[in-house]
Amino acid sequence: MNVLILGSGGREHVLTWKSVQSAIVEHVYVAPGNAGTAQIATNVDLSVMDFEAVAAFCKANKINVLIPGSEDPLVAGIVDFMEAQQDLDIFILGPNKESAQLEGSKEYAKAFMLENNIPTATYDSFTSETINEAKAYLRTKTAPYVLKADGLAAGKGVVISETLEHADATLDDMLLDEKFGKASSRVVIEDFLQGVEFSIFAMSDGENYVILPEAKDYKRIGEGDTGLNTGGMGAVSPVPFMNSDYLEKVETQIIKPTFDGLKKRQMTFVGFVFFGLINDNGDPKVIEYNVRMGDPETEVVFPRIQNDFGAMLELAANKRLNEVKMRIDERTCSTVFTVSGGYPESYDKGTKITFRPHEANDAVIFHAGTKIQEHDIVTSGGRVLAVSAFGEDIQDALRKSYNGVQNISFDKMYYRKDIGQDLLTLSK
Ligand code: AMP
Ligand code: GLY
Repeated sequence: MNVLILGSGGREHVLTWKSVQSAIVEHVYVAPGNAGTAQIATNVDLSVMDFEAVAAFCKANKINVLIPGSEDPLVAGIVDFMEAQQDLDIFILGPNKESAQLEGSKEYAKAFMLENNIPTATYDSFTSETINEAKAYLRTKTAPYVLKADGLAAGKGVVISETLEHADATLDDMLLDEKFGKASSRVVIEDFLQGVEFSIFAMSDGENYVILPEAKDYKRIGEGDTGLNTGGMGAVSPVPFMNSDYLEKVETQIIKPTFDGLKKRQMTFVGFVFFGLINDNGDPKVIEYNVRMGDPETEVVFPRIQNDFGAMLELAANKRLNEVKMRIDERTCSTVFTVSGGYPESYDKGTKITFRPHEANDAVIFHAGTKIQEHDIVTSGGRVLAVSAFGEDIQDALRKSYNGVQNISFDKMYYRKDIGQDLLTLSK
């Protein structure tokens, strides 16, 4: 089996790492990849949005499985494009354009949840024509107000306003001034939910699905969850409140109704569903769907999967995922991201990274914003390297992740020192 993975982040390095371990995978290509994927697979200089070039590469290199890492090519219809190609017999682990709307449109996702009785925050949605209704709707609610641009906004489309004045101004920005371009020509307003956020993942072949481990990520740049949002500063799997009863709740109230709802709409969903959840006093509710794995969640979820990934892909391609018996490492996996100083605002690129030879421990380094420049590995993005490690519990895993971080250095390197600390206070 030959596999092509699209993307260049930590998630794609993990998918590459897991694919190359498979007994049945021959070649793994990554487009465009990073310095980490270059060490274990073949990087290909292709843009993930250049579907023509991706199709041509797949034909020329006898690719059997294509895995788009991020949502952009999926929402833009890479699956539909590939399926329309003649003489391209390929399995794509990702949803078509219609199913990708679960992530591509918040309004679409909310209507879908309502239709299928999937627990989520109460909402309504508005456009520039109904902005007065939107402001009236806000006045029937209490602070904080949650406003969401309908479309993809690079993870920045959610604004939580503490006051009515701020919420009104945000509506003006989004609907009248198109703050997020077309993505904010429609705005969803929903009730604020309180609780611990986490996510759980499923992999679907269009007929069957398997549930993958859950994780909690840390989005803010600053310790104590302060400061600007980032692509993710670290993650932990499992979360302390997950047990078989809770998992059953998540499956019967959320995961199964989601796949049943897709079938009811005669939508074929192939690929990963990322269920962004909040634990609302013991009841899981959906904050959002994504149609791909999370980053940095993949850096803690995939190491826990003991199954041969190639074998899972082969069964998925034949709509036989129901035959997969998931084997999940019981230990805790944590990851800590080292980022470029200044991120998520401006930061330097091209800074040389030094790796110290480290003692054998359970830590693995996954690359994100790195590239090879002459004989050096240099930074090429804000989030640079994720250090994942296993431990007997959260503290043990984190101790190993942080030990691994000590083996990396580059100018202005920053990382959060409090990943997972909030989970220590939660009871099982
Ligand atoms: P999203 O882009 O939908 O993941 O939203 C970004 C972040 O906004 C989430 O990770 C939550 O922290 C927060 N958020 C979104 N919706 C809600 C809500 N209804 N209640 C509380 N927080 C929310
Ligand atoms: N870590 C959140 C995401 O991948 O969207």
